[in-house]
Amino acid sequence: MNNKIISAQGLTKAYRRGSEEIFALKEVSFVVSRGEFVAIVGPSGSGKTTLLNLLGCLDTPAEGNLRINGIEISGLKEKVLVKLRRENIGFIFQQFFLLPTLTVRENIELPLLFSQKSNYKGRIDKITELVGLKARAQHLPHQLSGGEMQRVAIGRALINEPEIILADEPTGNLDSATSQKIYELFQELYNQGLTLIIVTHNIDLAKKAHRVIYLTDGKIG
Ligand SMILES: Nc1ncnc2c1ncn2[C@@H]1O[C@H](COP(=O)(O)OP(=O)(O)OP(=O)(O)O)[C@@H](O)[C@H]1O
Ligand SMILES: [Mg+2]
Repeated sequence: MNNKIISAQGLTKAYRRGSEEIFALKEVSFVVSRGEFVAIVGPSGSGKTTLLNLLGCLDTPAEGNLRINGIEISGLKEKVLVKLRRENIGFIFQQFFLLPTLTVRENIELPLLFSQKSNYKGRIDKITELVGLKARAQHLPHQLSGGEMQRVAIGRALINEPEIILADEPTGNLDSATSQKIYELFQELYNQGLTLIIVTHNIDLAKKAHRVIYLTDGKIG
């Protein structure tokens, strides 16, 4: 099995603002090994979210190459890309994006609507337990605390058994005690062999990573 789960070469992304072209990322290159825990840190506007969106195939680079599990992403048809994303990548955002009328359990199982995975009933229970929400499975999001909502979002990211978890400031909306619980959960995912790439402003979370990638003005370093 290819040990390089992500390989980024010269990733560049620019946005047009009026007549100006703003480089959100400039020739960013790095490799992530399977099972690695990488933190991405950097000041506001340094390109962290832009990079995460490229890694998650939610956006395409203007230049550069991205390989996921040895597969070159550029040129893939949207349908293939959607499948690759669904089967390989779990996303966690700072805003939890839960559906307010669905219960905890229904929010977690939502991505299964779009995938063809079978034998998942036991898995929903297992994940609900892993994220510590077994007793709250029938609650609606408005009945939960912020930390609990984020744990639902983490469960939802895990339901399709991705190999890669991408998280954009997952504790940005949480107090420090609640954040601590989320770090412990990430640690558990890491122990289970997942590859974690987490954008964070939080020093405690970055300290837990194997490696920290610093972004400044769209460049590594
Ligand atoms: N859709 C867009 N259109 C124009 N400019 C954009 C767009 N998205 C991002 N940018 C610009 O690209 C740069 C990088 O943005 P990005 O969101 O990646 O930063 P970030 O490091 O995630 O910042 P933060 O810590 O505030 O979330 C910024 O200058 C931003 O203004
Ligand atoms: Mg951001």
